[in-house]
Amino acid sequence: MNPLNHVAIIMDGNGRWGIKKKNSRNSGHKEGLKTVEKIIKQAVKKKISYLTLYAFSTENWKRPKKEIDYLFRLLENFLTKKLNELHKNKIKLKIIGTKNFSPKLNRLLKFAEKKTSNNKTLQINLALNYGSKSELIDALRKLKNSNRKITEKNLIKYLQTSNIPDPDFLIRTGNTKRLSNFLLWQLAYSEIFFEKKLWPDFNEKDFNKIVKEYKLIKRNFGNV
Ligand code: FPP
Repeated sequence: MNPLNHVAIIMDGNGRWGIKKKNSRNSGHKEGLKTVEKIIKQAVKKKISYLTLYAFSTENWKRPKKEIDYLFRLLENFLTKKLNELHKNKIKLKIIGTKNFSPKLNRLLKFAEKKTSNNKTLQINLALNYGSKSELIDALRKLKNSNRKITEKNLIKYLQTSNIPDPDFLIRTGNTKRLSNFLLWQLAYSEIFFEKKLWPDFNEKDFNKIVKEYKLIKRNFGNV
């Protein structure tokens, strides 16, 4: 059986769920947050060490301001209300992406990272204003300035995910089959599960089913 260390998720389908159920994309984001909480609990239960969640991409700035503002308010409220609980459960929060939000949210994110930095149960990597291409360009620039040799091992040191093992598998909900500029380097050998359900409908049972399926895959990494 394959060991399981790191799960990455593209949480797609909030907007469609919201429109279908309540004629509002934002209500889909609100419901999607409930799924985030369920999956965090499940990851802890399954003793998974890393959970990487794609919450806001560098491309998501193209969305209407009303939706962007709502998403960040949701995140702010979530952290304000739930940070102590996360900390109590020994969960570590790390942001990947560039923190260039409102001063209040930037402060809150930094505070949450610092407060939880020594926790060891589950590390949540929250991808916010994250784009894989810009992460790679940034890492290459830093590597070049360091005068180190250009090797895989050296490049990895400058990725935002340095010190984090690559995801064992990726889940993308929402019945869409693409990577959307998410962890392009890190997913090179990950298994990928495309899930038809929209993110707010995804639940613990769906997650457990994927974990079970993943554990039974024969992973060759190019070997036979
Ligand atoms: C993609 O669905 C989802 C997002 C861009 C935002 C993800 C946010 C959450 C799951 C809730 C908030 C999370 C935190 C951590 C506060 P979409 O809106 O692109 O869906 P669509 O494809 O149906 O339009």
